[in-house]
Amino acid sequence: MGEGIMRLGFVSVNVTDLEAARKHYVEVMGMQMTDRTENEIYLKGWDEYDHHSIVLRQSNRAGLDKMAFKVHTYEDMEQLEKQLQQYGASVQRVSKGENHKVGEGLRFRLPSGHTMELFVEMEYKGKALPQVNPAPWPEGLIGVGAPRIDHLLITAERPHETVDFLMKALNFYMSEKVVENERSETPIAAWLFRSYTPHDIAIIPGKDEKLHHFAFWLDEFNELRKAGDVFSKHDVPIDVGIERHGITRGQTIYYFDPSGNRNEVFTGGYIAYPDMPVVKWTVDQLARGIFYFNHRQEWIEGFTGVTT
Ligand SMILES: [Fe+2]
Repeated sequence: MGEGIMRLGFVSVNVTDLEAARKHYVEVMGMQMTDRTENEIYLKGWDEYDHHSIVLRQSNRAGLDKMAFKVHTYEDMEQLEKQLQQYGASVQRVSKGENHKVGEGLRFRLPSGHTMELFVEMEYKGKALPQVNPAPWPEGLIGVGAPRIDHLLITAERPHETVDFLMKALNFYMSEKVVENERSETPIAAWLFRSYTPHDIAIIPGKDEKLHHFAFWLDEFNELRKAGDVFSKHDVPIDVGIERHGITRGQTIYYFDPSGNRNEVFTGGYIAYPDMPVVKWTVDQLARGIFYFNHRQEWIEGFTGVTT
């Protein structure tokens, strides 16, 4: 097979108040609105060049509508379709335009019930910077000024089944996992990647079909401080942070959008190679894995228990 899945393409998120969501994602997060219909808003970050990385959908409840990963070529997507079928997944073809500005794709469900899609092409929009002799950042950034989305974290009643599916049917690599003890291999939770970061997607125990959070990338640690300032200024409810993850070694603030979807601003972490040895966290050290600084705090239960 060629190169397979390249990266997270877009997340489609349900919101209960589209206008409140627009205000948050545009005026607080600094995303650019690239299109809107009566019930949907399309957004991209300043360092992203495809038409959108987030779709906000008016709905009567919050949560994840679906996630879509971008694949290198159509040949790769055909190969992945075969692998999915061999694994026993029921795969639906998505026609060009069924997703606004997106080409043909595949749709299927993870064992956890989440809807995932693959696509190869999305309308090109261009970064907020020129392709020739660009400055390091564009003028006129609003609020947090998040450059791009980074990853998402979903919950599953049987995480190891979804991890197995993602690794065997879609060739995801594992960077880290939580296990019962040093000798056990079965993942209680796992961080998986196809790009070069410690995770494009992670799976933790919880209810099927639920979203724990999706994350925006920030370029460095001081940008997290600025994000915290912006959140406070705009009364964005902060969940946790600034913190350090033991797992991924990232730095983080978690917060909620106006519909109650948990979001994260994330920076740091290491470069992940496909041949990296998997890092294990024993479940007794999980709190330190999630929040390295404040691993004794009781709010970790609230953190892992609240999903949309
Ligand atoms: Fe995260």
